[in-house]
Amino acid sequence: MYSFDFAATDPVTLWDDLASAADAITAGEADAVANMANVAALIWQAVPDLNWAGFYRFDGTELVLGPFQGKSACIRIALDRGVCGAAARTRTTQRVEDVHAFPGHIACDAASRSELVVPMVVGDRLIGVLDLDSPLPGRFAADDAAGAEKLIGRIAARLAEPR
Ligand code: SME
Repeated sequence: MYSFDFAATDPVTLWDDLASAADAITAGEADAVANMANVAALIWQAVPDLNWAGFYRFDGTELVLGPFQGKSACIRIALDRGVCGAAARTRTTQRVEDVHAFPGHIACDAASRSELVVPMVVGDRLIGVLDLDSPLPGRFAADDAAGAEKLIGRIAARLAEPR
């Protein structure tokens, strides 16, 4: 059994603690879906003010819904659509302060106001994205983006499904 307690209130420490927990919980496990499920649950537990936290997997053509916490969501996202598509296409983190102002934003949950999407790349292979949504506008600071990128960088190989 794993029990993690996330007490930090500053985002730098919180994301460092989360990355350590995600590293520990995925260590030695080769099943990418199990690892994504546990990491989504950890983020959901630790990061305040989220209404969605989870993964989309890249199947070679488009993004396909993966393990997540929150309300049921759109299943497939083409790379030319939405915040997730932009992160996957450009392979750069998208930190959107106001999703209503983002052209092509896909509203899975009408409560979402801001969004952070981190691309996941292993070697030079795009494997998917981490998507976080918040009901608060401007919820995600640069420290959140950097922390989430660091977490993904540390464990991305364990989130990659076999080709
Ligand atoms: N809002 C995302 C779609 C995924 S959901 O938020 C879970 C987007 O525009 O890509």
